[in-house]
Amino acid sequence: MKNVSRNFFLFLSKNRTLNKSAKRWGLKLGASSVVAGEDIPSAMEAVRKLNQKGIMCTVDHLGEFVTEKTEALKSADYCIKTLDAIAEEKVNCNLSLKLTQLGLDINQNLCMDNMVKILSAADQYNIFVRIDMEDYSHYQLTIDILNELRKKHDNVGTVIQAYLHRAADDVEALKGIPLRLVKGAYREPPEVALQNKQDIDNNFIKIIKQHLCNGSYTAIATHDHNIINQTKQFVKENNIPRDLFEFQMLYGFRVDMQKQLVNEGYHFRTYVPFGNDWYGYFMRRLAERPQNVAFAFKGFFLK
Ligand code: FDA
Repeated sequence: MKNVSRNFFLFLSKNRTLNKSAKRWGLKLGASSVVAGEDIPSAMEAVRKLNQKGIMCTVDHLGEFVTEKTEALKSADYCIKTLDAIAEEKVNCNLSLKLTQLGLDINQNLCMDNMVKILSAADQYNIFVRIDMEDYSHYQLTIDILNELRKKHDNVGTVIQAYLHRAADDVEALKGIPLRLVKGAYREPPEVALQNKQDIDNNFIKIIKQHLCNGSYTAIATHDHNIINQTKQFVKENNIPRDLFEFQMLYGFRVDMQKQLVNEGYHFRTYVPFGNDWYGYFMRRLAERPQNVAFAFKGFFLK
């Protein structure tokens, strides 16, 4: 049953007609509890509030299905405006983005040029930029672009998904680079990805330990208390300094646990998505946790 609903929401997440309509709806279906508003000022307000609680942030301007060069250029400009706002507001926040928003599906050079523009702006402000990892069809290109960018910029990193068979090899190859490690949010075939939850969890723990033992900065991005507890135990037993890692969760999820980790003295960052293109992001969150369905439809009727 869980797989049926997961596949259903992942299928919906790719529906372009619904995506288009959702942009006109405003933040509906309960999305406002997991998306921090539709524009930069709303995102900054959410970030300021989290910073006041000792929580660092990363903001992501949501965007899906970019197929026109003009849209990709607009997205890049918006990323730079977001960096300007972070610097002006002096908030503790970095930027997350997706390469398809910057034109990866249109032309690789266009995407690269956009990334260089963004990283140059981020360099000036000393802001770190995280390239989110998308589905497997974009995976190798993302790694290649990261490696190219890292030749001139050290303020950029990416994400490795534990469900991929190749995850441990990639973590080894990316030793020294700040990585966010996650379970993986997309539906991938057995040829490229583990399918069983326990296998994915085991691989997740394995790559967390691997990157930490390599002395590389590690962001452990999960709402799973078992993974968090195992990480806490591992760092304690192995005297791994707290400055070498941070926990991350999504905006609006497990808020009490976010506070608790901060109170326990761990570095903690909330991923704050914003913008009117919230539909695909929200459907992927529903796919991960069907319990969010009740909460979503309650939100819909309350609006
Ligand atoms: P999972 O969903 O497997 O949950 C495990 C257990 O934790 C549940 O069974 C439940 O007990 C508990 N739990 C989980 N959520 C809960 C809740 N809301 N309330 C109470 N209990 C809960 N993916 C990707 O492919 N590319 C990317 O770039 C990113 N980036 C990213 C950034 C950040 C900050 C996060 C947190 C996640 C991502 N992801 C991602 C998504 C990631 O790959 C994954 O799909 C989700 O985080 C869901 O997996 P979890 O590890 O959170 O636990």
